[in-house]
Amino acid sequence: MHIHKFERFWIKLSFVVIAFFIATVVYGFVVMDLKVIGASETLDPQDLGGTPFDNPGVREVTKNGVTEYEVYVQTIQFAFIPGTSEPITVPANAKVTFYITSPDVLHGFEVAGTNLNTMTIPGQVARFTTIFPEPASYGIVCNEYCGPAHHVMEGKINVVPQSEFDENYLVQ
Ligand code: CUA
Repeated sequence: MHIHKFERFWIKLSFVVIAFFIATVVYGFVVMDLKVIGASETLDPQDLGGTPFDNPGVREVTKNGVTEYEVYVQTIQFAFIPGTSEPITVPANAKVTFYITSPDVLHGFEVAGTNLNTMTIPGQVARFTTIFPEPASYGIVCNEYCGPAHHVMEGKINVVPQSEFDENYLVQ
C-alpha cells in the first residue's frame, strides 16, 4: 500500500508525541516522585464523624514554636460551612492552611480576587496554605456546577488584625 510521504510523516510524528507524553508521565513518577492520592488520604464522605470536619472552623495550632491556623471547611449544596451563614475569620499576616472536603457532590472553593482556587471532591481533602497580608474581606464562590442553586453558593472570608482576632475570634 502506498502511503504519501506527508501522511507518513504525520503518522510518525503522532507516535513520537505519544511516546513523549508517556515519557513525561514516567519521568514524573520515577524521577520527580509524584504521587496520586492514596486511599489513606481519603475519607468517607457519608461519615465525617470523628474527623476534624465534624466540627469545622478555624483552629490555632503551634508548629515548631510558630503559631499558625488551620481552617476546616465543608462544602455542601449550597453553602460553605463555615463561610456562608457565618464568615471565616482569620488573622492577617499569619500562615493559614485550608482543609476542605465535600460530603455530597463536587463543588469549588474560589477566593475571589486571588489565585486561591480548588475543587472540593467527595471523599478527598483539598488543602492549600496561604498568608493574607492585610486585613480585608474576600468573597468565596463555588465554581463547579453542583445543582440548581449553584449560582447562589457563596461565602465570605474576613481577614482581621491579629489583635482583633485574638480578642474576638480565638477558638480555645
Ligand atoms: Cu457548590 Cu456549585
